[in-house]
Amino acid sequence: MSMDYLKQDNINRYLNTKIIGRNVVFLEQVDSTNNYAKNNDLSNGSIVTCEEQTTGRGRLGRRWESQKGMCMSIVLIPEIELSQISRITQVGAAAVAEALEELEINAQIKWPNDIFLKGKKICGILTEMKTEKDKHPYVVVGIGMNVNNDHFPDEIKDIASSLFLETGRVIEKSLIAAKILNHFEELYNEFICGNFNMTLDICRKKSYVIGKQINLIENNSVRKATAVDIGSEGELVVVTEDGKTEKIISGEVSVRLDI
Ligand code: BTN
Repeated sequence: MSMDYLKQDNINRYLNTKIIGRNVVFLEQVDSTNNYAKNNDLSNGSIVTCEEQTTGRGRLGRRWESQKGMCMSIVLIPEIELSQISRITQVGAAAVAEALEELEINAQIKWPNDIFLKGKKICGILTEMKTEKDKHPYVVVGIGMNVNNDHFPDEIKDIASSLFLETGRVIEKSLIAAKILNHFEELYNEFICGNFNMTLDICRKKSYVIGKQINLIENNSVRKATAVDIGSEGELVVVTEDGKTEKIISGEVSVRLDI
């Protein structure tokens, strides 16, 4: 699959969207597709893809290794309140889970932005934005998925994996990218029109955390809790050890499974 570049023509073969993914900026090599998307004023729905990402970024300043992976950043210019932007990460996670479902791969969403398969992380989402006075926010949703990787370094091989390692299938990156974009457009359009429930239903159905013991990590303190639901605003609803119900807002507290 040496010609499996994430270029417009390859993606188009599987794409059924109107706007999302209809302008592909493909780069052989780039530091980070999110950086490129943020530093170039691209139109709503454009995507930035690459063959090699040299310094891919994850959440909390972590690195994202993307060899043999699928990297893409979706540019969105939504007319919504800033407080709603974090929900777009959940739209992305739901789109990834639905795309994998179509390929008969039953992945799960670790609230709010990681995708797990058989207990290991295979995909992460990093949403960033730029704001300017009197302009709609410029949002970049970066999706990195381990697709055909055949090994991982010892330090992470117990927690990270790829579609290939978990299913034995070599999957075309352009196919998976297009399927994600197809689902993303549908869920995003609903969200923009005020219907976040479609995304929430998928996030609940595919949740990797609901019903599990978790650690809530916040300002160097760790508390144990049980995740019980995802609320109507996308927040994680937990019951703490002292029996209190709390709503965890994305970005404020880091959630780690208690295993
Ligand atoms: C995470 O798991 O913390 C999020 C990882 C996000 C990685 C993707 S790869 C495409 C885009 N470009 C980046 O630099 N990061 C995101």
